Amino acid sequence: MSIRKLNWNKVIIVLVMPILLIILTVNTVTTAVSNKDSEKIIEQNVTDIAAYKDLILIHNQKETDYFTSSITSPKIDRDIIDKEIDKWISTKEKEFEKKVKKNKNEFNDDFKANLDINTEVLEVTDDIVTFVLNHSEFINDENDHNTIKTFVVDLNESEIIESDKINKLLNNKELLYKLVDDSLKKEQNIYSLIDHDKLKKSLNTKKDLTWSLNQTDFRLHFDKGEIESDIQEALTVNIPLVNLDGNIDEQLAEKLNIKEFVRIEKEKEEEYLKEAKRIKEEEKRKYEEKMLEEKEQKERAKNLKPLDNQEKYVALTFDDGPNPNVTPRVLKYLDEYDAVATFYMLGSQAKKYPKTARAVANQGHEIASHSVTHADLSNVSSSKVHTEMTDSTTLIEQATGVKPRTFRPPYGAINQNVINKARDINQPLILWSVDSLDWKHPNVNSVYSKVMNNMHSGAIVLMHDIHPTTADALPSILKDLKNKGYKFVTVTDLLQLTGNEDIGPYNSKKSNKK
Ligand code: NI
Repeated sequence: MSIRKLNWNKVIIVLVMPILLIILTVNTVTTAVSNKDSEKIIEQNVTDIAAYKDLILIHNQKETDYFTSSITSPKIDRDIIDKEIDKWISTKEKEFEKKVKKNKNEFNDDFKANLDINTEVLEVTDDIVTFVLNHSEFINDENDHNTIKTFVVDLNESEIIESDKINKLLNNKELLYKLVDDSLKKEQNIYSLIDHDKLKKSLNTKKDLTWSLNQTDFRLHFDKGEIESDIQEALTVNIPLVNLDGNIDEQLAEKLNIKEFVRIEKEKEEEYLKEAKRIKEEEKRKYEEKMLEEKEQKERAKNLKPLDNQEKYVALTFDDGPNPNVTPRVLKYLDEYDAVATFYMLGSQAKKYPKTARAVANQGHEIASHSVTHADLSNVSSSKVHTEMTDSTTLIEQATGVKPRTFRPPYGAINQNVINKARDINQPLILWSVDSLDWKHPNVNSVYSKVMNNMHSGAIVLMHDIHPTTADALPSILKDLKNKGYKFVTVTDLLQLTGNEDIGPYNSKKSNKK
């Protein structure tokens, strides 16, 4: 289908509009004709309508002592059709001139009656075209009319399609009212002005409802004031063609390809249902995932061996990694002493060094989260807290294949937002009871003594697997802790954490809250 055709039915044929002349193939003949009993023909134009061979629009503009008129009439080179349209136009002209004559005292050079008949051409199919003749006349306040006359013509059959072809619809008043009402509802500013009693009366009692067709719609036309009181012009109601299915002459339905509209509508409906189903399934999947996770968590909690109170336990933790140089060394020493530890990874680091991150998980250490960018979460917006905590969970899981179990806020900085979010994502907040200060004093002896001098059973030890000196200090720490009878456990083992209610923050075993 050509571009011109697509645009066509939206275009109102107003011959003076130059923009239109570009769309149309124009063949204009202008003649100025001299006086004839004070009647001046100002202009006569003929325009070819390229969308339909044989179709032209003839425009006549006239001025007399009493009135001006502008009339555009279609000519399709089909005698019966052309005569019928001409007859309607000339009747309107005669009626108008009669009324003008009756009131001719009212007119002078400054004030003349006016008659305007504009033809709008609407493409329906290759063989069917609609002419909408918009008729308006002004003689005086009592004679101020705007009415619509339509001719839907079948060029193939050389006939005007009469109302009997759509009688089934026009006579089904209940359906017709519903369709009109549905359509009007889509334009609230107009809908509020509609007088529904007038509308019902029009639909029920008017002998010939004015209707037309375009490529997508069945259209009903109402004269100015017919179904409302406040709109200054005739009103057109568009009803999608799909509604004509089963309600019009079968042959006409075939020509209008109504079944295709029905098919498209059905397809849209199916598409909608499919989408609704997809959304529902997605929700179900998410719900099941959540349920499964909760179940797994309960299972984990059940399987945690209660720690023996007579034993000494320590949870070593390493923050801010993974680091490709230090973390592998830390892993090596932990392995040598058969020790398990907990790694508070940064999401950004896990993303950068996924192999190192995965090696930590593969060696059986506990994976935990330490935010994405090491931001002070007590000092940022709640949405930033949200992304720092959820994104790091995602990034770390992507890298390690394991979902972080607990969260350690950078700098140990906590506020209500952090606590809320921790509860949200079910990651208890973990601080520490023994600080190696390995970042402040990157010195093997200092790290060793800070850890060993402050050691106690149930301790959570803070170290960083980004400083080489921390790795250097680790063998002697591990060796001596072992000699002193300490058992290495993960943070969750140590705290025997369970559900949401135990969100912390925790510093060590049994020391709940700061
Ligand atoms: Ni840190």
